[in-house]
Amino acid sequence: MFICAQRWIWRRAVVLVGLACAISAKIMITQVDYVSNPDYLTMKVQINNETEGSTVDVDGNLYLDVEQGVFVNIDLDSKMDGEYMTMIGTSKELCNKDEAGMDPVVPLLNDELEKFGNLSFNCPYKKGFYRMQRFRMANDHMLVKMVPPGEYIVKMDLQHQRPNATTKVQVFKLSFFFEIS
Ligand SMILES: *[C@@H]1O[C@H](CO)[C@@H](O)[C@H](O)[C@H]1NC(C)=O
Ligand SMILES: *[C@@H]1O[C@H](CO)[C@@H](O)[C@H](O)[C@H]1NC(C)=O
Ligand SMILES: *[C@@H]1O[C@H](CO)[C@@H](O)[C@H](O)[C@H]1NC(C)=O
Repeated sequence: MFICAQRWIWRRAVVLVGLACAISAKIMITQVDYVSNPDYLTMKVQINNETEGSTVDVDGNLYLDVEQGVFVNIDLDSKMDGEYMTMIGTSKELCNKDEAGMDPVVPLLNDELEKFGNLSFNCPYKKGFYRMQRFRMANDHMLVKMVPPGEYIVKMDLQHQRPNATTKVQVFKLSFFFEIS
């Protein structure tokens, strides 16, 4: 009930409530764009089209230990009238445990990521090889149910501020274009 009410708020259209709750979501990823900073890591991202929706493989090689100053920014953009607009955004310092209770999105994503490999947002990060295979969000996951059918981009931007540095450098930026039907 709670989930359906939330969908209603997002779309502000009563007619969609019935539809959204009756049909189980299918997520198809249509494009993935990424850049990574070679001082930190190299990575390879692959999308697999499967009948139940898209799955994602990621291989990453991290070249150094990172234990503090890691900032992640996650945005969800929704396509409306042909243009993408940011619906929600969240920022988090991943190594700062004091902030842990404030934002539910990163811990919720972490619980899912951990089912598919050893790539997660859990600080600290030890240098080495990381792999995630056939990651997908369950259709009935809270984060998926909150989003009505449509076209979206999830953008993840990870930055690092070295000890005593005054500015952050980009570690990677990843954009998933997808459709929920
Ligand atoms: C997966 O399917 C989507 C939608 O049908 C298509 O746009 C995309 O190019 C396909 N991707 C791959 C990797 O086959
Ligand atoms: C992560 O998992 C991969 C594949 O299972 C493994 O080869 C790698 O050593 C693991 N990395 C770390 C840092 O534990
Ligand atoms: C950062 O600055 C402090 C105080 O100036 C210094 O003691 C410390 O060694 C510096 N750390 C690094 C990693 O440069």
